[in-house]
Amino acid sequence: MYLKPIKIGSLQLKSNIFIAPLAGYTNLPTRLLYRTQGAAIAYAEMISAEGLNYSFNKSVKLLDSYSYDEPLGVQLFGANAQRILLAFLKIKDFKFDLVDINCGCSVKKIIKSDSGASLLRKPEEIYKIISILKQNTDKPVTLKIRSGWDNQSINFMEIFDSALQAGANLITLHPRTKSMLFGGKANWEHIKILKQKSSIPVIGNGDIFTAGDAKKMFDETNCDGIMLARGLINNPFLVEEIIAILEGKTYIQPCLEQRIQVLLTHCKGLVDYIGEQKGIIEFRKYFAGYLKGFPEVKRLREKLNQILSYKELESAIIEYEKFRKNNF
Ligand SMILES: Cc1cc2nc3c(=O)[nH]c(=O)nc-3n(C[C@H](O)[C@H](O)[C@H](O)COP(=O)(O)O)c2cc1C
Repeated sequence: MYLKPIKIGSLQLKSNIFIAPLAGYTNLPTRLLYRTQGAAIAYAEMISAEGLNYSFNKSVKLLDSYSYDEPLGVQLFGANAQRILLAFLKIKDFKFDLVDINCGCSVKKIIKSDSGASLLRKPEEIYKIISILKQNTDKPVTLKIRSGWDNQSINFMEIFDSALQAGANLITLHPRTKSMLFGGKANWEHIKILKQKSSIPVIGNGDIFTAGDAKKMFDETNCDGIMLARGLINNPFLVEEIIAILEGKTYIQPCLEQRIQVLLTHCKGLVDYIGEQKGIIEFRKYFAGYLKGFPEVKRLREKLNQILSYKELESAIIEYEKFRKNNF
């Protein structure tokens, strides 16, 4: 059985399909949409500890949530235990269900600030961060890591040991090094090794783009759960597809009408959340995932790139739907 409940400290999840934190993507309306397909938990976009420490009102926007946006993971990135604790204490009583520490982000700006994957070089700091958070909250404290800084310094087991000693409740491994960024292939063997040794849940992440990949990840690594990231951007229906296949059901890809219905709901959600023009512009980066492979989509996309109102977008999409019905 692939799908099963999972316990993270005091938090009981109904299943083991996780929606990754994705900066620039997992905003509130998008999370709500992904959740409807049955994911166990979704994470907000990573939040800067220094952002919370210096410009709280701006950064805290990333924590926007509704009562039905749960369970919710909040992920912080920062350089050291004291700064992360200071930030955490400001949001401690907000509505979220676990706090995760980002030890994997390899974006230049984040590395420069000694955060994200920089922490992979300092297992002792990871120990301090997890310990101090554990002393200050009853919520589960988790971490998301890469395999190491580069091929010469693969140290995910050392980091795991530090985190475990500090009391971490779950670990997610994206088995690429910091140097690889998103190149090459995720080395799932690392997840398997970690799972063999781990007494806390291990979530496998990296290169899950299809339901077949998800099944393979479980089969090859024996991980406790999987975390979806770019796969969701490419295919916003990935969660429902994975759940169906892992339950042994036949999955029928959504037809154009169904895709358009969800696409419009997603776009409307963004428009309602951040305003019409911003919402329409923001939606452009999700659009490709909905209609990938359909004919004449390039032309529709070019049209949408000129549009700034929801009504116009809706008309353009409906026109496309009619055109497609008449021509294919
Ligand atoms: C656009 C984008 C934003 C991301 N933002 C975050 C983030 O906020 N926190 C984090 O831990 N990882 C972040 N990641 C990394 C993903 O969560 C995930 O670990 C990585 O993409 C590997 O999984 P995948 O191969 O399924 O995409 C991001 C990745 C992408 C492509």
